[in-house]
Amino acid sequence: MGRRLLLRFMLAAVRILKTISVRCANARPRTPRDYLNFTVHNLLKASRLSETIVDGDMVLDIGSGDGHTLRELMLFRKIRPVGVEITVERNPHSSTRVVCHGSALPFVDKAFDVTLICYVLHHLPEDQAKAFILEAVRVARKKILLLEDSMVDFCVFYRLRNLFHRLEGDWEYGSESNAYRTPGGQEMFLTYDQWNRLLLALPGVYGVSVESLERISRYAHHTLIRVDTAPETANSGSATATTDLM
Ligand SMILES: C[S@@+](CC[C@H](N)C(=O)[O-])C[C@H]1O[C@@H](n2cnc3c(N)ncnc32)[C@H](O)[C@@H]1O
Repeated sequence: MGRRLLLRFMLAAVRILKTISVRCANARPRTPRDYLNFTVHNLLKASRLSETIVDGDMVLDIGSGDGHTLRELMLFRKIRPVGVEITVERNPHSSTRVVCHGSALPFVDKAFDVTLICYVLHHLPEDQAKAFILEAVRVARKKILLLEDSMVDFCVFYRLRNLFHRLEGDWEYGSESNAYRTPGGQEMFLTYDQWNRLLLALPGVYGVSVESLERISRYAHHTLIRVDTAPETANSGSATATTDLM
């Protein structure tokens, strides 16, 4: 008994000493370790997104917020990232962020390989959401990837959650930018079928696939929607450099 106690004590002590020494050795990390700030489910989502992206792709994130999706993607792919936001309040230090309205992008046609719109469209009125998607189609050579709050059907608890999320968005984005326009109600929390119909009716959309991310995400409503913006995307090379975009 005495020996086991002594062994436990010695193990605890040696582990503390090991932790102190490794922290000192890593006090000045030689490579950035951004992933330490990321959640597992966001990294899993980024890994899923990265399956549609290849090294060298120019990737635009519309409504990029603090830019975390682009940073997470960069752990998996060597992308050239650009984010756009309606307000400078969000991510003021990003060097890859452009401040503009998502429905009037200051980029030439097909300037990007892939365009992302992550958890933005359900915060917009339908006409503006469609304008966002049309702009995303215009600037994307290969694909648009949407992350959305979507389900096969929204149950009563989800309708409640959507109501609270609507209020949260209105208060937060409305206080940050006068250009922000709310949908007013919950009508842009679309089901899988509704997203399919809305997207396939838009010009320049060649295909849509909707995938639930429930298995790798924190909540059941996290959904990945892949939109083809070209009939033929295989071996299409890469797009123009950042400086030639505007
Ligand atoms: C729920 S946040 C999502 C942020 C980020 N995409 C993410 O996944 O964490 C919605 C974002 O859309 C931005 N947004 C809202 N209206 C916009 C507009 N008209 N043009 C560009 N961005 C807009 C907001 O400022 C906010 O950062």
